[in-house]
Amino acid sequence: MKAVIPAAGRGTRFLPATKAQPKEMLPLIDKPVIQFVVEEAVASGIDDILIVTGRGKRAIEDHFDKSFELEEILKRGGKNGLLREVRGISDLANIHYIRQREAKGLGNAIYYAKKHVGDEPFVVLLGDDIIFSDVPCTKQLMEYHRGYEAPIIAVNRVEKDRIENYGIVDGKRIRDRFYKVNDLVEKPKQEDAPSDLGITGRYLLTPDIFNAIDKTRPGKGGEIQLTDALRILSRERELYAYDFEGVRYDLGNKTDYIKATIDYALRREEFSGWMRNYLKGAGRVKPGD
Ligand code: UTP
Repeated sequence: MKAVIPAAGRGTRFLPATKAQPKEMLPLIDKPVIQFVVEEAVASGIDDILIVTGRGKRAIEDHFDKSFELEEILKRGGKNGLLREVRGISDLANIHYIRQREAKGLGNAIYYAKKHVGDEPFVVLLGDDIIFSDVPCTKQLMEYHRGYEAPIIAVNRVEKDRIENYGIVDGKRIRDRFYKVNDLVEKPKQEDAPSDLGITGRYLLTPDIFNAIDKTRPGKGGEIQLTDALRILSRERELYAYDFEGVRYDLGNKTDYIKATIDYALRREEFSGWMRNYLKGAGRVKPGD
């Protein structure tokens, strides 16, 4: 299966950090967000990845490209650990790029993948969304797809006061964590929401999504929204939602970015002890801490 990673958005919520660099290249400690996303696809068994980029996103291509000069410098300096790491990034997968001419919405970005994915189901991983889980979220979706042969949207339960920030699924539970989608509502008011199942940044789609995107009129912000296209699709065919096992962070959102940085530090052996101690007294730092 092929993967598509849309990464052409403007990232306005993260300005000014995103004025001259892609938000997908913001790091969690020392790793750019989009590298986590590519690694999730690779860990799910995918080796063909199409990244949808756009204006000002060159750093993404450079990051996954081979850097002969850097490798040479690391080799000469005997920095073998770093050398392995830098080489590993360019060997991760076959990464292809296509440019979205204008940031006209996520649905429009995915439409650019039409030719590349052809007639096969494919997965979409948002380039600014990371998930920590035992089994990669994308792999979980692929496993369910084997049984249902239909599009599956990854969802997570969201806190009531955050419902208004999400696309919400109106679904009927058919087995543990698995729902048949009746409808989708983009950012409803808490009291109008049909459930607390929020759409996250992973989708397993079938090629009929392209037809649905074609029929989708500009929605919120004048953009072609993927949720609107999925809504059209849900009237034409069966569509499922899967409440995956894992923790998701929308890194276009500042509080999620802070949480992800802390949680990632706690997951890294070299930082976890220090981080735990630091958090106990956070805000009361003394020189030398
Ligand atoms: P977001 O909804 O976070 O959009 O996109 P955004 O425009 O980048 O963010 P803000 O609201 O201005 O801060 C989710 C993912 O879809 C991509 C983004 O790059 C991000 O990885 N995207 C979004 C596109 O590729 N093209 C678009 O036109 C919009």
